Amino acid sequence: MRALTYHGAHDVRVETVADPALQEPDDIILRVTATAICGSDLHLYRGKIPSTEHGDIFGHEFMGIVEDTGSAVIELHRGDRVVIPFVIACGSCFFCQHELFAACETTNTGRGSIINKKSIPPGAALFGYSHLYGGIPGGQAELVRVPKANVGPFKVPAALTDDKVLFLSDILPTAWQAVLNAEIGQGSSLAIYGAGPVGLLSAACAKMLGAQTIFMVDDNDYRLAYARDTYGVIAINFEQDDDPADTIIRQTPGMRGVDAVIDAVGFEAKGSTTETVLAALKIEGSSGKALRQSIAAVRRGGVVSVPGVYAGFIHAFMFGDAFDKGLTFKMGQTHVQKYLPTLLEHIEAGRLQPELIVTHRLALEEAAQGYKMFDKKEDECRKVILVPGAGRGA
Ligand SMILES: NC(=O)c1ccc[n+]([C@@H]2O[C@H](COP(=O)([O-])OP(=O)(O)OC[C@H]3O[C@@H](n4cnc5c(N)ncnc54)[C@H](O)[C@@H]3O)[C@@H](O)[C@H]2O)c1
Ligand SMILES: [Zn+2]
Ligand SMILES: [Zn+2]
Repeated sequence: MRALTYHGAHDVRVETVADPALQEPDDIILRVTATAICGSDLHLYRGKIPSTEHGDIFGHEFMGIVEDTGSAVIELHRGDRVVIPFVIACGSCFFCQHELFAACETTNTGRGSIINKKSIPPGAALFGYSHLYGGIPGGQAELVRVPKANVGPFKVPAALTDDKVLFLSDILPTAWQAVLNAEIGQGSSLAIYGAGPVGLLSAACAKMLGAQTIFMVDDNDYRLAYARDTYGVIAINFEQDDDPADTIIRQTPGMRGVDAVIDAVGFEAKGSTTETVLAALKIEGSSGKALRQSIAAVRRGGVVSVPGVYAGFIHAFMFGDAFDKGLTFKMGQTHVQKYLPTLLEHIEAGRLQPELIVTHRLALEEAAQGYKMFDKKEDECRKVILVPGAGRGA
């Protein structure tokens, strides 16, 4: 089959590799009909995630048609059309029973990414996300083996196109969890750092839940313009305004700050010269720029919700400021499985239209070009969908 494989930073290729085979009785083999490139894939693409090996197949946002089922698969049959959560969960361990699927303690044979780990088991395995997360081949491929198939795969109605339901695999539940964690409701004020797919869908979810004011910060005017036109955000370009948090605060009643902030950027945040230098010297692995801005922009007693990925030490994390303001932090990988029935209802009712963020549909064969475009923000790229089997230029 054809699949997108890793060969070092900024070098991904579509190659012919061995077809996957059933390994466990509760596995299925899925024929992928659509897959997307995630902002999380960019961390891999830029060589920032340890234990990513040459030949690893990326891809954790995908859907398709069940091709083959193991003997213990009871929920699915050949021909079923399903979306696959990026989190691989067993459904029965302590954490799965608490619907904390990303913390599933039985699926990951890797070590996870906690530095001061002690004896804690790693969180769930993830598709196509390094050997820290189990080394499970991903879905930017024609075929993919899906473990725990009685728990993860989610059937979707034939009436909904791939574009409408594909993002149930990751970024829509991620945005939803971020907004729930931020405790957004009728009349809330919110600032979102990052106008990538996660930030944009967070704005969509927040608007649906009645947020009154949404600020959005990025340095890509085209992404900000889309967010302003589609979700009514107040856009701030941090290239033109070097302290967005202060600009946000000045527009809130009593200069108290916003009720909640969502950091949809993560550890590769741009904008701090010091941290760019430290990262280049490998003295610091992460930028705390978006997190510092988030802590600054939120009101006392507010929530900082962090869907953006962080790993290891964060430079100049203002914990004292957070203490003084009495903040709540909520964060982490998304417990995807938990949110799918609710989100599907919102899509079916037309309240959420996640497909609006898509700008590029490419053949899987053109995936390397898709990565470059999404990484460099070329051609006003917001989100790339890859279609296996389609010829060049599809
Ligand atoms: N928690 C989860 O389960 C989960 C799931 C999906 C994605 N993510 C993470 O969410 C983050 C966003 O993903 P995405 O797909 O939207 O990626 P993306 O890379 O397209 O978007 C990030 C955006 O942040 C902007 N940005 C960079 N520095 C900034 C700064 N200092 N202030 C404000 N904006 C800044 C970039 O210009 C870009 O538009 C990534 O870290 C990704 O790994 C987490
Ligand atoms: Zn993702
Ligand atoms: Zn589990």
